[in-house]
Amino acid sequence: MFWSKSFIPTLKENPQEAESTSHKLLLRAGLVRMLMAGVYSYLPLGLKVLENIQEIIRQEMNACGASELLLPALQPLELWQKTGRDKDLGQVMFGFKDRRGRSICLGPTHEEAITDLVRSQVSSYRQLPLVLYQIQTKFRDEIRPRFGLIRACEFIMKDAYSFDQDEAGLDKNYQAMFGAYKNIFLRLGLKIIITEADSGVMGGKVSHEFMVPSKDGEDIVLSCSKCAGSRAFKEADSLECPKCKIEMEKLNCIEVGHIFKLGTKYSQAIQANFSDASGKLKPVIMGCYGIGVSRLVSAVIEQNNDSEGIIWPAEVAPFDVIILPLDATDNDIMGLAKDFYCQVIDAGKEALLDDRDERAGIKFKDADLLGIPLQVIIGRNAIKDNTVEIKVRASKEKIICPRSQALAEIKRLTNIHGLSGIKE
Ligand SMILES: Nc1ncnc2c1ncn2[C@@H]1O[C@H](COP(=O)(O)OP(=O)(O)O)[C@@H](O)[C@H]1O
Ligand SMILES: [Mg+2]
Ligand SMILES: [Zn+2]
Repeated sequence: MFWSKSFIPTLKENPQEAESTSHKLLLRAGLVRMLMAGVYSYLPLGLKVLENIQEIIRQEMNACGASELLLPALQPLELWQKTGRDKDLGQVMFGFKDRRGRSICLGPTHEEAITDLVRSQVSSYRQLPLVLYQIQTKFRDEIRPRFGLIRACEFIMKDAYSFDQDEAGLDKNYQAMFGAYKNIFLRLGLKIIITEADSGVMGGKVSHEFMVPSKDGEDIVLSCSKCAGSRAFKEADSLECPKCKIEMEKLNCIEVGHIFKLGTKYSQAIQANFSDASGKLKPVIMGCYGIGVSRLVSAVIEQNNDSEGIIWPAEVAPFDVIILPLDATDNDIMGLAKDFYCQVIDAGKEALLDDRDERAGIKFKDADLLGIPLQVIIGRNAIKDNTVEIKVRASKEKIICPRSQALAEIKRLTNIHGLSGIKE
């Protein structure tokens, strides 16, 4: 992609309204813009990052046997009255009446909708187990939308649901999801803490939360330095680790994933029953598994940045390489830059060419801000003595190499730094 043809409105200064590091960087690197409180547009770079995260999630979900579908955002309030959650979630629901006077809401979550679908289609144990997921926009009228994509009123969630005939089946699906979640967060370059949590309005028994430690996180997790045990902290809880009898550390965290064993709460309320092998009618046993997809963009930035800007982990980066011709008015330099751009694209990788007529200083600053893993700097020397400079964003390591070697050097750096494979 050529910068001049894209839409990457970077900002030199920290915007006034941004409170957290990730919120500042989201705005400064031109990833998102706010339309109103808690509601954001994803600009081209932000959308690429979002799509990369979704791709990782899809791969891991499909690998554990889940099938993707897409449920509607518009839901009849009637369905929510069956589970009583029209009251539990009433405060955060966006609701209105359609022209026929029916009460409608914009889905804050989808347990009711998916359970109703399964009620209408599944009747026998032969159709179970079943694991379904979607990646979809959720709507919640949050009391306090904050920190950009971390607490938004319109946000993207991956929500998966498992349906089994017995507890053993649920345990198996729960464990598979647990494993998939660990893979997802590892590939996203995140260090996480997993806590056993209170399942609140979801109404299940067992639940785990996947937490990203970050100074701007709104959740507090207690972590034991001795046994590495951890749990969610609420006001007035004791700080002591029950096992080690020592005081645990309080960590601010961002919740990025939450999985629940729901049991039969929804299937009983909505009558999603199946007949077992002996012909007996039973409610299906459910689990639900959420990931805050758009929130993850913020969480990844919170854990991967320095004073200059973002440092994208390889699989999340919007581009693999950014090419910086230092003088866009010089035909020779631009010619070499475009030639190198084609080489990188031919090698199967994504490149951003900063073809703007801007000073070198501005291009360097913006490249660091954007956080693309490798920078290739093409200046006078590319013509004078046929060399280019390659900079590794994360380590700030700089390598000067002959122009003819640049692609090979990029492949080498990619391997050393575990950057997404430019393949040999
Ligand atoms: N307002 C929000 N903005 C962005 N992401 C959210 C928001 N609310 C929840 N999420 C994400 O969706 C995931 C699943 O949601 P859920 O556990 O139902 O939410 P909550 O913990 O707020 O009840 C959460 O782990 C979180 O990552
Ligand atoms: Mg939660
Ligand atoms: Zn302990």
